[in-house]
Amino acid sequence: MRGKFITFEGADGSGKTTQIEKIKTYLEAKGHECLLTREPGGSKLGGKIREILLHYDGNVDSLCELLLYMADRAQHVQTVILPALNEGKTVLCDRYTDSSVAYQGYARGLDIERIIKLNEIATDNIEPDLTIVFDVETEVAMQRVGETKDRLEQEGIDFHKKLRYGYLELAKKFPQRIKVVNSNLGIEEVFEQVKKILDEKWLETQIKS
Ligand SMILES: Nc1ncnc2c1ncn2[C@@H]1O[C@H](COP(=O)(O)OP(=O)(O)O)[C@@H](O)[C@H]1O
Ligand SMILES: [Mg+2]
Repeated sequence: MRGKFITFEGADGSGKTTQIEKIKTYLEAKGHECLLTREPGGSKLGGKIREILLHYDGNVDSLCELLLYMADRAQHVQTVILPALNEGKTVLCDRYTDSSVAYQGYARGLDIERIIKLNEIATDNIEPDLTIVFDVETEVAMQRVGETKDRLEQEGIDFHKKLRYGYLELAKKFPQRIKVVNSNLGIEEVFEQVKKILDEKWLETQIKS
């Protein structure tokens, strides 16, 4: 049986990395073998693309940026995500297609429909079974990120507000797939919300099958 594909979204500092570790432990205790991966840079080739995306110090054209993310995604899906799903593993992925729509679309202003189409091509229509968006006040996220920021984290507060709005719009558009948690709260309180969503989702699929 194909494994479940769960993606995690939200601004930098929203708590994705912190929560994913806890989620992995939680799911493994329930008997699910998990693969933890991330975008950009979840594959070997993708690691090189990630370096460019986060640290290239020259001007990056926004379409070029978008296509680099897509190239990373195509390699990631085909060489990492799909093989793991086919082995029955639960794949936990830190950022995926919604990041492109939120960052390059809503925040940077590229055409959203075009990004959605490119996502379909890059992923060969491999969609997550569940996406959790960690929603956090922009100021709170920025405080958590602190002083050492990468290229995208250096964007201003306006960019981050549009990003947050974008994620919430996506959640409205795809309410079956995308669930939002309040990530302004403490680590354990956020995790309680996540567990509830995971448990409900599991129950749901058990009833269906
Ligand atoms: N709910 C929370 N409350 C307070 N601090 C948090 C919370 N979640 C994460 N942090 C801290 O904020 C920083 C960024 O969290 P991280 O999980 O790396 O976020 P992301 O992966 O979304 O960028 C880390 O130092 C982490 O310990
Ligand atoms: Mg992280």
